[in-house]
Amino acid sequence: MTIKTIITEPNKILRQVSQPVSSVGDDERKLMDDMLETMYAANGIGLAAIQIGIPKRIIVMDISKDRNKNPLFFVNPIIKNKDKEKTTYEEGCLSVPNYFAEVDRPKYCEVEYLDYNGENKILKADGLLATCIQHEMDHLEGILFIDYLSKLKKTMIVKKLSKKKNNPDRIIV
Ligand code: NI
Repeated sequence: MTIKTIITEPNKILRQVSQPVSSVGDDERKLMDDMLETMYAANGIGLAAIQIGIPKRIIVMDISKDRNKNPLFFVNPIIKNKDKEKTTYEEGCLSVPNYFAEVDRPKYCEVEYLDYNGENKILKADGLLATCIQHEMDHLEGILFIDYLSKLKKTMIVKKLSKKKNNPDRIIV
């Protein structure tokens, strides 16, 4: 397993729409293993393939609190059903480092997907799990959680992130 570099905003790659995977084979499993390792190393609870620059509809997640490692793998996920009722979480994203904001999303959803072995599965999710899978599925469409914020707030965050990218660490010697 290899830890990959996570792409951060602003970067056009994050805005790409990811493509469906035709089947789950060894290449896809290797990618999922790398993604999981990368996500754990960054202390994240979810990661989409596009965040490491691969425009495939693949997501890894692990929301287990104690880091007992309970990984979930989603290939070609599709939302089948979702609640009208919303819930609010303060969200962050490995591609938007150090910024957090409250986002409303459907409280409950059902997702159909292929798992690590290519088997067809349905996940019935609520609470954190529902929010997390919806956040990750947004990545597949090139959407980031900051897109839900006011234009002003979003512009400010992106500006600060690009400044950080351009300025190397300052040292005084
Ligand atoms: Ni994210």
